[in-house]
Amino acid sequence: MASALEIKDLHVSVEGKEILKGVTLTVKAGEVHSIMGPNGSGKSTLALALMGHPKYEITGGEVLFKGQNILELEPDERARLGLFLAFQYPLEIQGVPLGRFLWAAKKALLGQSEATNGKPDKRADAKALGEFRKELKAKLSLLKLDESFGQRYLNVGFSGGEKKRAEIVQMHILKPQIVIMDETDSGLDIDSVKIVAEAINQLRGPEFGALVITHYQRILNFLQPDFVHVMADGRIVRSGDYRLAQELEAKGYDWILKGVS
Ligand SMILES: Nc1ncnc2c1ncn2[C@@H]1O[C@H](COP(=O)(O)OP(=O)(O)OP(=O)(O)O)[C@@H](O)[C@H]1O
Ligand SMILES: [Mg+2]
Repeated sequence: MASALEIKDLHVSVEGKEILKGVTLTVKAGEVHSIMGPNGSGKSTLALALMGHPKYEITGGEVLFKGQNILELEPDERARLGLFLAFQYPLEIQGVPLGRFLWAAKKALLGQSEATNGKPDKRADAKALGEFRKELKAKLSLLKLDESFGQRYLNVGFSGGEKKRAEIVQMHILKPQIVIMDETDSGLDIDSVKIVAEAINQLRGPEFGALVITHYQRILNFLQPDFVHVMADGRIVRSGDYRLAQELEAKGYDWILKGVS
C-alpha cells in the first residue's frame, strides 16, 4: 500500500460548521475511484481539505499518503509527495503564463537537479527547458489546446472548458501519483469529455490512482472506475462498482438518501 491515499474517519469544519462528518476511503495506486453525490454534500470540501486549504479545519481523523500523515504537511509538501488537485473552479492568475508556471512547478517538484537531468549547469538547464517546451506543446495538442495557451496568463480569459483541459495538461506534465479531480468534466462539451477521459486514461497504470468527483455518468463510461462512492451530508453513504453509477443515473439519489438520515 506504499502510495495509497488513506482517509480515516475525517472530520472537517468550515467557519465552525461541521461539513465532513467522518469520511473513510482508501485510494490505492492503480485504482480509479469516483465520488458522486448531491450538491452541498461535501465533495469539494473533501478535495480541498486533502490539499490543505487553510479554510478547512480538520477536527478529527487522519489522512495518510505513502504512510505519512499528510495533515501535518503544507500544501506544497503534499504536492511534492505526489498529490494533485484539479479544481472545480480553477483560479485565474494574472501575469503568470501557463508555460512559465508549469516549468517552475516542475522544477519545484523534481528539484532543480532532476529537472536538468542531474546536471545543474546552464547548458543542461537550457536543454531541459527545450525538452519541457516540446513536452508542453505535445500535451497542449493532446488536450486540443492551441500552442499559444503556453504564453497566456494562467486561466485568464480561458473558457470554462479550456480551464478544465488546462488542468489535465498540468497533470500530464507534473505526473502526480494520486490525482483528485473535482468536476473536471463539468462544463466540457461532448467531444471534450472524451478527450479529457482519454488523457486521464493515458496516465493510468500501477503507480497512478485517482479520485474523480463528478455529477455525470458520461465521463465514467470512458473511465470505467473501479469503485463508485456516494457522498451525502458529509459521509460516504454507499459504495459499489461502476454499476452503482448506472443505477444512480437511472434512479437518482432519493432511494439511497431515504435510508440514510
Ligand atoms: N464558508 C462557509 N460557511 C458555511 N458553509 C460553507 C462554507 N463553505 C462551504 N460551506 C458549505 O459546505 C457544504 C459542502 O460544500 P461543498 O462545496 O463541499 O459541496 P459539494 O459536494 O462539492 O457540492 P457541489 O456538487 O455543488 O459542488 C455546503 O452546504 C456549503 O454551503
Ligand atoms: Mg463541489
